[in-house]
Amino acid sequence: MQILRNIAAARAALPSHASLGLVPTMGALHEGHLALVRAARARCATVVVTIFVNPLQFGPHEDLSRYPRPFERDCALLEAEGVDCVFAPCAEELTPAGEITFVDVPSIAARLEGASRPGHFRGVATVVSKLFHIVQPEFAFFGQKDAEQCAVLRRMVRELNFPVELVICPIVREPDGLAMSSRNVYLNAQERKQALVLHRAMQAMQAAFAAGERNSLALLYAGRAEFAREPNVQMDYLEVVNPDTFESASEATGALIVVAAKVGNTRLLDNAALS
Ligand code: PAF
Repeated sequence: MQILRNIAAARAALPSHASLGLVPTMGALHEGHLALVRAARARCATVVVTIFVNPLQFGPHEDLSRYPRPFERDCALLEAEGVDCVFAPCAEELTPAGEITFVDVPSIAARLEGASRPGHFRGVATVVSKLFHIVQPEFAFFGQKDAEQCAVLRRMVRELNFPVELVICPIVREPDGLAMSSRNVYLNAQERKQALVLHRAMQAMQAAFAAGERNSLALLYAGRAEFAREPNVQMDYLEVVNPDTFESASEATGALIVVAAKVGNTRLLDNAALS
């Protein structure tokens, strides 16, 4: 009998799931998701994609029931990318009513996106934990577009000792700069144009940074000026934060610009590094 006295020894002795890549999604796939799938395909022998519209991460007044669910189309796209397996459980099985166990990363999850959407990151962390336990991947691929989600999951993986390496892939943008999102389909033609203000505000801040400005407040001033020119878009937050803790960063070097805004009824997110 082996007696395993530390985590590394336990990992070495337990069955491994070497070279299994997991791409968790909520479906309604776009090029951003496919970039995650391609990164997984390039790195892993087996690629599993989950499609699960997670009820735990939607607030009571959010778009759970109208969230797009083009399942057949998603599967065809994934098959064309050479995905080995799609895991698409039903909500009754993965998140049955009455469960009382949750995973929470409170200090990060309470900020910005979490402050606007109470319970959102608890729902994400809980379901991603379940997916990790079920699929047991060696690598899991997430998009930088949801930067706060990445920070929550990095911290969760570290503190709960999940034997998985997170691979964070860059944001994929439309040619005019709009970050790809499953929610972009909700935008009408006018809103689609107005939505570009998120990207423009971040570009203004990056330009000021490139010109030598390091004070976050000065950068925010430049970004907010762009929003002031697009009064139909309701800015929720525009901040310069530490990319790990999501606390405000007064010094901009190495920090992350994060923005959320409502365009019509659609809430959009974006972010960009200052480096
Ligand atoms: O980023 C998403 O689509 C979701 O938050 C995730 C990670 C699939 C968990 O439901």
